[in-house]
Amino acid sequence: MTTSRRFVGRVALVTGAASGIGRATAALLAREGARIAVVDRDAGGAAETTRLVREADGVAAPFTCDVARSAEVDAAVAAIAAALGPIDVLVNVAGIGDTAGLDGVAGVSDECWNAVLAVNLSGPFYLSRAVLPAMVARGKGAIVNVSSLAGRSKSAMGGYAYSSSKAGLLGLTRHLAFDYGPQGVRVNAICPGGVDTPMLRAAGVAAARSEHEQAARAARVAAYQFFMPLKRVSRPEEQAAAIAFLASDDASYVNGVSLDVNGGLFMA
Ligand SMILES: NC(=O)c1ccc[n+]([C@@H]2O[C@H](COP(=O)([O-])OP(=O)(O)OC[C@H]3O[C@@H](n4cnc5c(N)ncnc54)[C@H](O)[C@@H]3O)[C@@H](O)[C@H]2O)c1
Repeated sequence: MTTSRRFVGRVALVTGAASGIGRATAALLAREGARIAVVDRDAGGAAETTRLVREADGVAAPFTCDVARSAEVDAAVAAIAAALGPIDVLVNVAGIGDTAGLDGVAGVSDECWNAVLAVNLSGPFYLSRAVLPAMVARGKGAIVNVSSLAGRSKSAMGGYAYSSSKAGLLGLTRHLAFDYGPQGVRVNAICPGGVDTPMLRAAGVAAARSEHEQAARAARVAAYQFFMPLKRVSRPEEQAAAIAFLASDDASYVNGVSLDVNGGLFMA
C-alpha cells in the first residue's frame, strides 16, 4: 500500500479501466490523490472500478467510450474536462489481443487486423490528439502508453496484429515525446510481459484452435514459467506502479522511454 500522494489536485484519464491493469492503475492513482476518469467500453466494469475507488475514499467517475471511435473519444474527453477539470495525466491502457495460429499470415483476416490496430494503436492516437491541446495550453501533462513485450520483441501468444500494434504504439510514443516535450508534456510507455489479467487467461492454452496448437501453447506456457527469471507472471498492481512513476513528477526528466516491466524475461 502506497503512502505517497503524488497526484493530489490532478485529474487522470485511464482507458481500459474496467479491468486488469487499467483498474489497478485507477485504484493506485486515486489512492495517491488523483481524480479519476474511468474510461472503458465496458460500462458495467467501469461502474465497478468507480465503486471500488469511491469505497477507498477516492474520487472517480465512469465514462463509457470505445477508444477505436474518434468521435466517442472527443466527446468523452470534453465530458471529462467538464466534470472533473483539466486532464493532467492520460494513461492509454485499453487493448485487445489476437491469437497466433500455426498458419502464418494466411490465417489473419482483414477484420482481425483492422480491429486490433484500431483499438491498440488508433485508440491511443485519438486520446492523445484529444487531450494534448489543453495540456499544451497549460504547459504540462503526462501521457503513459501501455505497449507490451510484444512491441519490443514479438508476442508470445498473440499474433501479427498484436505485435504490430504494440510496436507502432512505441513509435507513436517517441514521436509525441519529441514534439510535445518542449511544451511541457512528457510521453512514455511501459512494456509489460505476462500479467495475470483476463486478457492473459484468454490468450492461454484454451485459445488453441487445434490439438496440435494446444500442445504447442501448453509447452510454451510451461517453458515460460521455467525460464522466466522471476518464475511468475506479474500482478496488475506491479504494472500500475511503473505507470504511476512515469506519470508522476518523480519522472520529470524521463521522456520517450519504453520501460520493460517483464521480470527480466526480455532484456535489451
Ligand atoms: N495481460 C498481459 O499479459 C499483458 C501483457 C502486455 C501488455 N498488456 C496490455 O495491457 C493492456 C491492458 O490489458 P489487461 O491485461 O489489463 O486486459 P483486460 O482484458 O483485463 O483489460 C482490457 C480493458 O480494455 C477494455 N477495452 C478493450 N477494447 C476497448 C475499446 N475499444 N474501448 C474502450 N475500452 C476497451 C476492456 O473492456 C477491458 O476493460 C492492454 O493494452 C494489453 O495489450 C497486457
